[in-house]
Amino acid sequence: MILKFLISALICFVFIEAESRSLECSKVPIGECCTRLWSERCPQPQCAKQVNRRCPERKALIQHALHSKDLRRAPQKPEAPKCGTAETGYQPCTTKSVANKLFLSCCELYVPQECHFMCEYEYDQEKTKNMLSRMILENKCSFKHISSILYCASQNRNNTKCCADLDLNSSQLMVGSRCLRMCDPSGSSLDKITKQDVTCLYNWNVIMYCSHSGITEM
Ligand SMILES: *[C@@H]1O[C@H](CO)[C@@H](O)[C@H](O)[C@H]1NC(C)=O
Ligand SMILES: *[C@@H]1O[C@H](CO)[C@@H](O)[C@H](O)[C@H]1NC(C)=O
Repeated sequence: MILKFLISALICFVFIEAESRSLECSKVPIGECCTRLWSERCPQPQCAKQVNRRCPERKALIQHALHSKDLRRAPQKPEAPKCGTAETGYQPCTTKSVANKLFLSCCELYVPQECHFMCEYEYDQEKTKNMLSRMILENKCSFKHISSILYCASQNRNNTKCCADLDLNSSQLMVGSRCLRMCDPSGSSLDKITKQDVTCLYNWNVIMYCSHSGITEM
């Protein structure tokens, strides 16, 4: 009698356990979006921003979930990718590692070796500040190469709109629209970058983000 009860309780427990496991899609806390692994079947839209900013190599996990949801909603009309546009906050379309390879291979042609440490899409402001101080204060790479570095970063694309949308045209910077020149290397006179452009260089992370974002096809 007791045995029978125990067995049925056990079966019941196993059943509940299995069911809850198949439905389990625990929400990943924002702080763990770049460290915790989750299944592609468990969309974690709350992680999109964090992933873009801190671990873009995980973007596929986010995009996969979004894409399969779109397909379910409208199978006859798959959404066009919107990366690199204002709607996605200029989320880059290429991974950082792919884009960095392009960036560096361009620098190998146009920028001297001692400046190659600048040829990387870095959007962490602490890190870009260190890179710039290495460049300027430690004199590791001459200032005159900035325009070639920016040219390689942008792959000759015009990212003015992204930079303006991300506040590089803000009157608070008190340099007018000067900084936008760094987002349009093919345009105005970038050969005339001077020490007054330090305010703009302080936002190097934004310039790098928009440059990366502008690379929409390989
Ligand atoms: C930048 O700001 C100026 C002055 O506010 C404005 O005239 C100009 O259109 C802006 N440029 C862009 C690309 O938004
Ligand atoms: C780059 O884009 C901005 C605004 O989108 C535009 O004003 C500017 O003329 C463009 N530059 C070139 C070289 O086309």
